[in-house]
Amino acid sequence: MDVVIHPSGRLEGVAAVPGDKSIAHRWLILSVTATGSSRLVGLPLSLDVRSTAACLSKVAGKARPSLDVFARDARAPVEGGGSTWNAGVEVPASEPLEVEGDGRAGLLGPSENLDCGNSGTSMRLLSGVLAAAPFDSVLIGDPSLSVRPMERVATPLRSMGASLDTTDGHAPIRIRGAALQGDRFETTIPSAQVKGAILFAGLAADGTTVVRESAPTRDHTERALEALGAPVEREHGEVRIRRFQHGGFEGRVPGDPSSAAFVIAAAALTGSALTITGVGLNPSRLRFLDVMERMGIVTRRVVEGSEVGEPVGTIEVTPCAALRAVRVEADELPLVIDEVPVLASLAIHAAGDSWFLEAAELRVKESDRLGAITRSIRDLGGAAADEGSDLVIAGGGLDGGRTTSGGDHRIAMAMAVAALGARGPSRVDGVEAADVSFPGFVETLGRLGARIEAP
Ligand code: S3P
Repeated sequence: MDVVIHPSGRLEGVAAVPGDKSIAHRWLILSVTATGSSRLVGLPLSLDVRSTAACLSKVAGKARPSLDVFARDARAPVEGGGSTWNAGVEVPASEPLEVEGDGRAGLLGPSENLDCGNSGTSMRLLSGVLAAAPFDSVLIGDPSLSVRPMERVATPLRSMGASLDTTDGHAPIRIRGAALQGDRFETTIPSAQVKGAILFAGLAADGTTVVRESAPTRDHTERALEALGAPVEREHGEVRIRRFQHGGFEGRVPGDPSSAAFVIAAAALTGSALTITGVGLNPSRLRFLDVMERMGIVTRRVVEGSEVGEPVGTIEVTPCAALRAVRVEADELPLVIDEVPVLASLAIHAAGDSWFLEAAELRVKESDRLGAITRSIRDLGGAAADEGSDLVIAGGGLDGGRTTSGGDHRIAMAMAVAALGARGPSRVDGVEAADVSFPGFVETLGRLGARIEAP
């Protein structure tokens, strides 16, 4: 699916974004491993979340039928033509999902491989759960996921007592679950996925499990566990967890701030005022708003409630007249790791050079994002360079032209948004990749007034 984006004038309206993918993965895992029933509202239909549901269904007992329905229904719009773009619905939402958990002890050995698709979060978080299960499982993924590093999660889980065989450090991962022993870990690469996997394993381990992060990362696992009454302690940059069997719970998944970032950028590039409702306002996910503020984008956040320990509310964007270049230093990077592509789409239109320093981790995301950002900016007539672990983007705008997502959802959306402020029309090939995290992305921009069409 390709789209042509024309330079667009003011956008207008109120937008909603799909449920947060990071939270949805964790709540799905926690609902299947709970004793008792859970009710999850607003699960995003994004492909990654369906991958977690499909894998869980293969090891679940009572929860299997509802997980299967969720995974199957969720697949329907995509089967229609390769993208939810064809589905005629904006931000397609799932029905509330009732999950009947049997506790961790109720998990069953799978009869086939667990396919995590494109989702690194599914593979790493599920590794933590399966490391403590009394059976063998094999996690596989698509070609992109199969070249991403997995020893970072296998190594700590091995030291807790499980047996994990990666394939030269990558998927497939064969996991032989075992009785685990708590341990202490100091992460060298800041990763919420690795921290989450260790904490899920720690919930089932003897003794205390401690994770000390080299830099803070998103804290959705900790918040959910606290809300469920688990013995989790957070102090001085450390998280500690002890064995706990949680019960069922209810929650509405907050909108994904990383998806909201694209709508905010679209507003900024068109000088528009926009409101995004029902969005997650967890501070560990909002550092990108600080970076945007340094670039001249003023937003206001209003917390209106909370769901399973996650603050939820509204983000209002005020019209932005001009963008300033920005420097994102190494210590800030883990907290904007998913927003570098969207920040890059703003930096292209800023006055001066913008720098993203020590961003090598972006080379092992869904694609080599440093390379992909540089390539697609150049495709559209802008100037950028990536060298080693740094990315520099020259301001001055884009002429327009033709580029491709390379199958990466955030590259697809970043380029579509950047094109709104270009001097001429831009064609983005493979925009259906946006379905991985933001089904309905093109419709959302179109409804707000962006000039986007199929070629
Ligand atoms: C995620 C953590 C981040 C992020 C990913 C989601 C999570 O990955 O990039 O999109 O839900 O824990 P890392 O843990 O590899 O940094």
